[in-house]
Amino acid sequence: MITYDTALNVFHLQNKTTSYVIGILPNGQLQHLYYGARIQPENLAYYLDDTNKAAGTVKYYEQDHKFSLGAVDQEYPVDGIGDYNEPALSLFDATSERYPDFHYDSYEITKVKARNVKVPGTFGDANQVESLHINLKDEQNNVWLTVTYSLFSDTDVISRQATLKNEATEPLQIHRMMSAALDLPAQPGAEFIDLSGAWLRERHVQRTPLVQGIHAVGSTRGASSHQHNPFVALASPGTTEQQGQVDAMLLVYSGDFLAEAELNEWQRPRLLIGIHPAHFNWRLMPGENFTTPEALLVHSEHGLNAMSQQFHQVLRQHIMNPKWLQRPNPIVFNSWETAFFDFDAEKLLKIAHKAKKLGADLFVVDDGWFGHRDSTASSLGDWIADSRKFPAGIADFSTRLHAIGMKFGLWFEPESFDPDSDLYRAHPDWVVGRLNERHSFGRGQYILDMANPAVVDHLFDQIQQAIADAEVDYIKWDMNRNITEAYSNYLPAEQQGEFMHRYMLGTYDLMGRLLQRFPDLFIENCAGGGGRFDAGMLFYSPQIWASDDSDAVERLKIQYGTSLVYPIDAISAHISAVPNQQVGRQTTLAMRNNVAKFASLGYELDPNLLSDNEQQQIKKDIEAYQQDADLIKNGRFYRIESPFESNETAWMVVSPDKRHALFGWYRILATANPSPKRYLKLAGLNENATYQIREQQAQLTGAELSTWGIRLPYEFNATNNDTAIVKGDFTSVVYHLDVK
Ligand code: DGJ
Repeated sequence: MITYDTALNVFHLQNKTTSYVIGILPNGQLQHLYYGARIQPENLAYYLDDTNKAAGTVKYYEQDHKFSLGAVDQEYPVDGIGDYNEPALSLFDATSERYPDFHYDSYEITKVKARNVKVPGTFGDANQVESLHINLKDEQNNVWLTVTYSLFSDTDVISRQATLKNEATEPLQIHRMMSAALDLPAQPGAEFIDLSGAWLRERHVQRTPLVQGIHAVGSTRGASSHQHNPFVALASPGTTEQQGQVDAMLLVYSGDFLAEAELNEWQRPRLLIGIHPAHFNWRLMPGENFTTPEALLVHSEHGLNAMSQQFHQVLRQHIMNPKWLQRPNPIVFNSWETAFFDFDAEKLLKIAHKAKKLGADLFVVDDGWFGHRDSTASSLGDWIADSRKFPAGIADFSTRLHAIGMKFGLWFEPESFDPDSDLYRAHPDWVVGRLNERHSFGRGQYILDMANPAVVDHLFDQIQQAIADAEVDYIKWDMNRNITEAYSNYLPAEQQGEFMHRYMLGTYDLMGRLLQRFPDLFIENCAGGGGRFDAGMLFYSPQIWASDDSDAVERLKIQYGTSLVYPIDAISAHISAVPNQQVGRQTTLAMRNNVAKFASLGYELDPNLLSDNEQQQIKKDIEAYQQDADLIKNGRFYRIESPFESNETAWMVVSPDKRHALFGWYRILATANPSPKRYLKLAGLNENATYQIREQQAQLTGAELSTWGIRLPYEFNATNNDTAIVKGDFTSVVYHLDVK
């Protein structure tokens, strides 16, 4: 997958569909030559004949007016040496900025990437992954930079990472160190695509045409956030789900991030992604290394669906724990929207019994089971069951749940504590923020200093004890507020700029240690809904609670947007009661089921309060979901019609062998006098195969379904409308397609 042309000093990285070409300039600097559709360049020298000359730029050599760094496409641009665009690296000594100028020294190719539970990142065995490490040296400052590229045999993603080593005798300060920079050819009219939104409205697809200057999204909240996601794509004008050229980057990280595109004076874009420099200042002592989080790069020649499928593949095969790959995620009943803080063991067991009868696998006791927590005002940090709610103890509750064949899930919010908690009273200095100064509240709680190893040790002891005592099978790991007044009472003054990153490293360490202690523990991630839906968390959690908004109509947008990057089985989607808690909307059980079906299905309602018909329907829905679970878990997902562009949404998932597919169509509001006959073109099917559409008793070829389309339900809303299949607002259908 990786070759080095010694005559031309060029590295050629190739996977099935893409090529990535890196050159070493005559002066030893690293040049970016190409990233795009796979090529077999026989005349590479032609592309190296590049004088890099551009008017109006600073020359790198005084005597050589042909060479300007500002006009070179670079692999890892550095601040302050002639390229004025956004840099990947900015370095200081104790007082002022240093200007490293890296030159090629050597390279190494390695196979195998072990799964290291301390920090999220890709992994693979010798047949799956090959990595190129290019070592560069800056003689003047005595600092080394290694840029690493990994390729995978089963996906066309390229991962990138950078490591800086201080070989000088004085400490250095890293002010900015991005995971990857990508200089691309000019594409007039290119669009910046990102996933943005808000709490309850996470990961909506946003498209912005680029103009000269910088366009960026990011987070300085200590979490990847509800507002933005650590992902960015640059798409050629007019890119759709099925066509167009896309270059995208995803950061494997859950904390502060910056994703930006700068369009320079020649309309050439530079994409960058990495830790946000705003609250980042890492002290690098002599002899120390710093390695960035990994960035995953995708180039697609066939639109956004092809980009998403590459991300899904790399996340499933090389980020998520392989343990869960072949096992369907459990069907969960969760106590939160069912009972909020108002429950005790008997009430929950009554719900769990009924849930079991309906086919659920697992019952989660959400917030409120510990300390004396009857509201958000107290007890976070005291992970001991509340004896008023669990008089016989939480272990007894677990035993009773296990006795009826239900697994047991328990909610934690490990990274926070409340002022009214034994933990805060015992360790006020574990708070994030300077002691004796004002601290902002969020949901009434403070953040724990996860950069302090004593805090991580304490949490590990308490949580592992709770898990062991109550034989917990699953934990829901929540995180409900963002960081303010960032300051660690543990770190020395010179290292305060490391706090935000060390916070994430401490959190990852805690998750990794718990998973080492309990290898079968299933962690569902959550951060006030979808505030940390990112590849860093997916490394530890096979699924993430996508949003605190469980309304089916809102979820169309959230799930559609999330699927741009993340596999649908990683999206935790629960059916809740109506009217919906967040928006007050009344949707049918069928609509709620048909949306949640294209995700990891669960429930947040009390089935005892439902009619017999509704209970029977849920039982059937769970059975049907279980039959389709493999398709959801391992299939290829295609977005067909976007809720951001119309009143309708459609998507489908196709099995890897293309023999089975599941198609979902949703209409938000009814329209008067709709078109009588409508077909929608499907994607991903075997054109030569004949598919039986189960719900339509029809047989059609893959070619017909992809070119002519599948017939949408007949609508008719005049007065005499008996034959209409869908009527009213919030309607949907799910069709199964199977090769005969
Ligand atoms: C926020 C989560 O997203 C909810 O599902 C629930 O767990 C609450 N926190 C509990 O406080």
